[in-house]
Amino acid sequence: MIKVKKRKFLLLPGDGIGPEVIGEVKKIINWFNKNKSLDFETEEEMVGGASYEKHGTPITDEVFYKALESEAVILGAVGGPKWDDLEFSKKPERALLKLRKELKLFANLRPAICFKQLVDASSLKPELVSDLDIMFVRELTGGIYFGEPRGIKPIDNGERKGINTHVYTSSEIERVARVAFDLAKKRNNKVTSCEKSNVMEAGQLWKEEVKALHEKEYQDVELQHMLADNCAMQLVRNPKQFDVIVTDNLFGDMLSDEAAMLTGSLGLLPSASLGAKDKNGNMRSLYEPVHGSAPDIAGKGIANPIATILSFAMALKYSLDLDKEAKMLEKSVQSVLDEGLRTKDILSKGTKEVSTSEIGDAIISKLQ
Ligand code: IPM
Ligand code: MG
Repeated sequence: MIKVKKRKFLLLPGDGIGPEVIGEVKKIINWFNKNKSLDFETEEEMVGGASYEKHGTPITDEVFYKALESEAVILGAVGGPKWDDLEFSKKPERALLKLRKELKLFANLRPAICFKQLVDASSLKPELVSDLDIMFVRELTGGIYFGEPRGIKPIDNGERKGINTHVYTSSEIERVARVAFDLAKKRNNKVTSCEKSNVMEAGQLWKEEVKALHEKEYQDVELQHMLADNCAMQLVRNPKQFDVIVTDNLFGDMLSDEAAMLTGSLGLLPSASLGAKDKNGNMRSLYEPVHGSAPDIAGKGIANPIATILSFAMALKYSLDLDKEAKMLEKSVQSVLDEGLRTKDILSKGTKEVSTSEIGDAIISKLQ
């Protein structure tokens, strides 16, 4: 059994803009080490397409074992058109899926927050999204992403059949629902659970298990069940009705992308993927921006590092209990936005365009 080492971070920049945005997080870690004597230990390794180019695999065993013994993995992004035609097991995304599954990171927290400075960047009317603050809890190690049987098989008359299986057990549903209820208690005390119980047995089980847990332990939290298609619609009709949304792996993938866009700024949204606490209170975790590798702008120094910096703030909060330091970092991001500094993706009238490293430096100067 590999033990988690306290305060050891594994940095996996990955592909596309990954290295640039992780570069800014490295500067911030150095700042904390120097000015707060926090003593974070970091190591950096390749993952995704970068690893495939060098080693012929999206993640080597060596890197995988390093991830297993780190308290937190901070990932940039994986993937790009260059690797689209690789066979399934070699695709950059497999590295991410393997880390999620093998590190047992079953709870994916994706806040969709509309920053007041960016309310005009949303495609929805400002009054619908201003102060929007939804927390998605996406189940991350089950459902159709991992269910068996799966594959592409030849069938009669020269046809082929593509198979994936959507499957959940009661305990998988219960443990992720518990995370959602606990988070809601610290927020606005409301959980919306989404499934397709009208057409899927696994969806019916999802609903029953969430309901049972609610009755048993969380009656003080408001619970609403919603069909996932209706949720997709409600998110653009009246997004502020939601507090915490808990849902399965696939619906969570889609609904969180939709919600991210409501905020108008994919470049600002962080995420945390958390495992269960062991008996010493240690937990495995992975933090990454919600945006992808954006190969079209890679290497130009214009990527927005804020989502990755805020992912690091989530690591301080959820993995290290350093709430104060996490808040400091979030506040520094806010004041830089208040001052009107922007990377290209969120540039608007009256604001000033700066580069990836300039906005990173500005955030660090606010920490001082
Ligand atoms: C996400 C991404 C991944 C997913 C891909 C890159 C495998 O879309 O984190 O939302 O589908 O989970
Ligand atoms: Mg996605």
